[in-house]
Amino acid sequence: MSALFHANVAENSMSTSIAEQSTAELGGRLSVLTRQRNDHIELDKLLNKLDQTHGPEQDQVLLDIYRLVFPHAFAEESVLWPVMRRVLDDGQALTLEVEQEHQEVNELVSRLEGMEHSDEQRAPVLARLIEVLREDVRDEEDELFPRLQRALAMWQVQALGLAWEVLRRTAPTRAHPVVARRPPGNVLAAVPLTILDRARDALDYRALRTPGTKKASAIRSLSTALGHAAARVERLPIMRQGEDPSTRLAGHSAGT
Ligand SMILES: [Fe+2]
Ligand SMILES: [Fe+2]
Repeated sequence: MSALFHANVAENSMSTSIAEQSTAELGGRLSVLTRQRNDHIELDKLLNKLDQTHGPEQDQVLLDIYRLVFPHAFAEESVLWPVMRRVLDDGQALTLEVEQEHQEVNELVSRLEGMEHSDEQRAPVLARLIEVLREDVRDEEDELFPRLQRALAMWQVQALGLAWEVLRRTAPTRAHPVVARRPPGNVLAAVPLTILDRARDALDYRALRTPGTKKASAIRSLSTALGHAAARVERLPIMRQGEDPSTRLAGHSAGT
């Protein structure tokens, strides 16, 4: 496609939500905008499924959501939002708002992980989680990404797509509410937390295949132990470097 076509497309798509643009307008399959929208569509399907499931089946859907959402958001925080802060005058305020949404998601999932299915707080926490995840998608698709699209050339949107994808495939997959939502803290935390999280995922999926058995509870204990190890890693002060005070987990000031 010609450079003139790309320029015209960028003009026409000014401020149009990325939900309403064609794949070509978003920069093709490699573009970060297309990749984002694909993940958001997948999330929407999983959230609808979550509403219709209970018990171990719901735990399985939640695990699928965590594996989609946390690496996705981690890669946004490490690669995309720093670019937005550089290229947009109000990038600081725009990205802080979505970082606050991401922080709330991390805190809600941490609460959910400590709850039994019989806990009466579970339903409101789950409902709020679904609400924040949907708000995050709308803020990104309707506001942040159209602004990023206007500020960057098509090749830059495609290059960002590659960087975001590489990070997304190697990022932590669990809630980490203590770790910074910004570099350098979150980037430093990535390697140890990714290893621990992905080991936990493998164990938890195995336990879900044989619910209620002794083997399942032994596997779950091992997963919980890895979860405690991850919690110790994310509390290292170095992992909180770069944090904005508004996304700090309550009760965890810098250096504690
Ligand atoms: Fe997103
Ligand atoms: Fe997000």
